[in-house]
Amino acid sequence: MTKIAITSPKGVKDILPDDEKYWSYIKSCIQRIVNLYDYKRIDLPVFEETVLYQRGVGKGTDIVEKEMYTFKDKAGTSITLRPEFTAGTVRAYIQQGMASMLKPVKLWSIGPVFRYERPQAGRFRQHTQFNVEALGEIDPALDFEIMSIAYDLFTALGFKNLTFQINSIGCQSCRPSYLKKLIRHYRNHSGEFCDECERRLKNNPLRVLDCKRAECQRVIEGAPAIYEELCPECRDHFETLKKYLDRNGRIYRLNRNLVRGLDYYTKTVFEVWSEEIGAQNAVCGGGRYDGLAEILGGPPTPGVGFASGLERIVMLLKKEDISVPDTNSAAVFFAYQGQDAKMRVVEMLADFRERGISSIMAFGSRSLKAQLREANRRGVEYTVIIGEDELSKDIVQVKHMKGEGQVSISVNDLIPFFKERGVVP
Ligand code: HAM
Repeated sequence: MTKIAITSPKGVKDILPDDEKYWSYIKSCIQRIVNLYDYKRIDLPVFEETVLYQRGVGKGTDIVEKEMYTFKDKAGTSITLRPEFTAGTVRAYIQQGMASMLKPVKLWSIGPVFRYERPQAGRFRQHTQFNVEALGEIDPALDFEIMSIAYDLFTALGFKNLTFQINSIGCQSCRPSYLKKLIRHYRNHSGEFCDECERRLKNNPLRVLDCKRAECQRVIEGAPAIYEELCPECRDHFETLKKYLDRNGRIYRLNRNLVRGLDYYTKTVFEVWSEEIGAQNAVCGGGRYDGLAEILGGPPTPGVGFASGLERIVMLLKKEDISVPDTNSAAVFFAYQGQDAKMRVVEMLADFRERGISSIMAFGSRSLKAQLREANRRGVEYTVIIGEDELSKDIVQVKHMKGEGQVSISVNDLIPFFKERGVVP
């Protein structure tokens, strides 16, 4: 029988140990920043009833039309793997009675989301989102806070070349009249759109503004700007948000064509772009969604939030050559000669680990030279060497792997030696 190796499905990624330092670094920055802003963690199910996304994200969106992983469970209920966090967070807010909590209710999550997209650089079928939501408050100062969390995170991570793109897409009272104007403009250009947008003209005309294809770009250039058509309330909200951004020295670009791909947005929308991964590949996107709770059968509850893809952040950290701390490597390697020394090493390792010193040993029965080669490759700072001679005299050799030479010390002095050098926590 020929053996065929099984590989992972298209568009998913194994995160290998070499990349782990990036992931731990990002997660530690996230934890520090959500604590600073006092957001509480919420863990949500990875699947929900399909109707949640059909109603919440919107039937005419790419996500619901083409990208959901949907299946019937054994009871015949239509289930969907979560393609994003916002609808699930608002569902939990309503279901768990969070409306009675002190507002705004500030929540964050992290975990995998699933979208059947065409895989390419930075675009996967399973990716990991850091998601933040603040519910129950209409104040534009909260939009600013949400954008500041993203800003602080990317600054803490060491990025310098990111741009904030912002827009306001109005509300139920001003958007319909804008859409009429927009459709009038489109009518003067019928037949000039790409196939996808010909379809969007009917079920999601706003999304045409987002199209990157040259033929559509020509039409979009002359389209009316939504932020010029806002009702007084939306205009006031947007102007106040911009004042907060200006007063705090935040650089942003007013992007009249930024409309986002999910139907629930009202007023503020924003994205963070990097030149490195192209305008299509935002590292972060979000906005306000004041009508979503009602769409999902809850009480009127304004909300604002964003999500950022961790795979894209890792990609950018690497592209920009940002060095991240490696807190995962062992500090001490034990090498030995002979079975008695090995027996001693196993004992010492247990003691070291009890004291909180990350330490490892050589396995098998290789020469001392081969063990030292391994120590080098493992990237440890120190190697403790015990041969037959050392064993009989109750001493060890400690070799500093980064060039400070080798010393011979008594076993009793080993822990104080490492304490002095900051290896013992
Ligand atoms: P989104 O723009 O669809 O927004 O996704 C947020 C972020 O997830 C993107 O900016 C990107 O970094 C990452 N991302 C999206 N799709 C992929 C993919 N296929 N592969 C890798 N990374 C990806 C939302 O999901 C909204 N729920 C955000 C939000 C929260 N709005 C308000 N609150």
